[in-house]
Amino acid sequence: MEKFVIRGGNPLQGDVNIGGAKNAAVAILPATILAADKCLIENLPCISDVMASLQILSELGASIRMVSRSTYEIDTTHIISTEVSNELSRQMRASYYFLGALLGRFGAGQVAMPGGCNLGPRPIDQHLKAFAALGAEDSVEYGQIHVKAGSLTGSHVFFDTVSVGATMNAMLAAVLAKGTTVLENVAREPHIVDLANFLNMMGADVRGAGTDVIKIHGVQKLHGCDYSVIPDQIEAGSYMVGAAITKGDVTLHNVIPKHMEPITAKLRAAGCEIWEYDDALRIRRTGELCALKIKTMPHPGFPTDMQPLMTTLLSLAKGTSIVTEGIWENRFRYVDELIHMGANIRVDGQVAVIEGVQELHPAPLRATDLRAGAAMVMAALAANGVSEIDETIHIERGYENIVEKLQQLGADIRRVEIPAHAASRAM
Ligand code: EPU
Repeated sequence: MEKFVIRGGNPLQGDVNIGGAKNAAVAILPATILAADKCLIENLPCISDVMASLQILSELGASIRMVSRSTYEIDTTHIISTEVSNELSRQMRASYYFLGALLGRFGAGQVAMPGGCNLGPRPIDQHLKAFAALGAEDSVEYGQIHVKAGSLTGSHVFFDTVSVGATMNAMLAAVLAKGTTVLENVAREPHIVDLANFLNMMGADVRGAGTDVIKIHGVQKLHGCDYSVIPDQIEAGSYMVGAAITKGDVTLHNVIPKHMEPITAKLRAAGCEIWEYDDALRIRRTGELCALKIKTMPHPGFPTDMQPLMTTLLSLAKGTSIVTEGIWENRFRYVDELIHMGANIRVDGQVAVIEGVQELHPAPLRATDLRAGAAMVMAALAANGVSEIDETIHIERGYENIVEKLQQLGADIRRVEIPAHAASRAM
């Protein structure tokens, strides 16, 4: 086990390269199954969720060749198994995308109930509703979800709730189905568009991604292709908050400024200066932070995955901020950690009321989940003195080389191995 040791107080300054989007990569990798061919996937982030997805593909029978740290060649021609092993499926939420991809190609798939961050109940009824509309049956036995279909036929699905996962899974299952599928009330996140672009590069006919209706004309066969994953909107947003909270000046490279708009709008309103270039963004904060009202919503609203980071930033803003979580039931668990640092935050259900304080104090901290963990890192960078963050495994699931990237920006942060006996005492 590892922890991060951070001596806060240094402003983040300089340049940082943003990696590929985790939430696009974890859908695109299973989607390669549908090609039954060779795909070259570039700009994959080097994070544990991507490594787990590659391992699942390999266990199913795909051949994987590492071309560089961020590029892999995946040949899914000889996949023989449709069952994802328990241990790997429980490691990450996104293992559910193997259900859609395996169902689409083989008419059957099995994964264990997926793991991932604990943000409250995470049902998959909308995924199963879409599979059922296409003609599949599902069953859950001993924590395993099985889906199977004699054949899949295009259908009309109106989702009861806007779900990123259900939208992507329905796309995966529908591209090889007979006839036309219409998906309504779908998610519109940049990673939905990225998956659609990847499927289309493989020969699929997916239209409307990025709007709330997606139309898919089923095709008989897909083929391999070369594809580069979009940059990670949330990784970029996290470094922007890092610059803002430390009164820094950071230029982010390999970003799509358009994808950042919901985040840049709020950071500007909080008092940051932001410059947009073709594939870069510069953010600087010199003055005081202003209080804000934020409600998280599906894209193009403010992303829930930035909520812990923005709440942390606003804990230092002048005045009263209100942050409402509109997606997850339980995404304020990290607030207790900020309170230990001297923040003044009250949480009532889905709403956090934040009275800005002058400074945060160093403290022993815990990464309660991926984004909360990133928020703790940014809080510790702002606090004068040494903070230690435990359970950083959650952070490494989604942020490639976070320690090295922050060091490059001038942060005093170290990854420290916790000896096994000390780790077991801490648990
Ligand atoms: N929901 C249902 N039924 C379903 C599916 C979702 O009721 O069948 C509800 C959920 O309970 C939630 C809402 O719909 O209240 C939205 O859930 P969604 O399905 O959109 O979330 P997800 O696909 O499980 C992805 C990201 C999350 C991100 C959300 C929202 C991946 C692997 N995860 O989760 O990312 O918070 O979309 O944008 O893509 C993260 O990266 O830290 C993270 C948690």
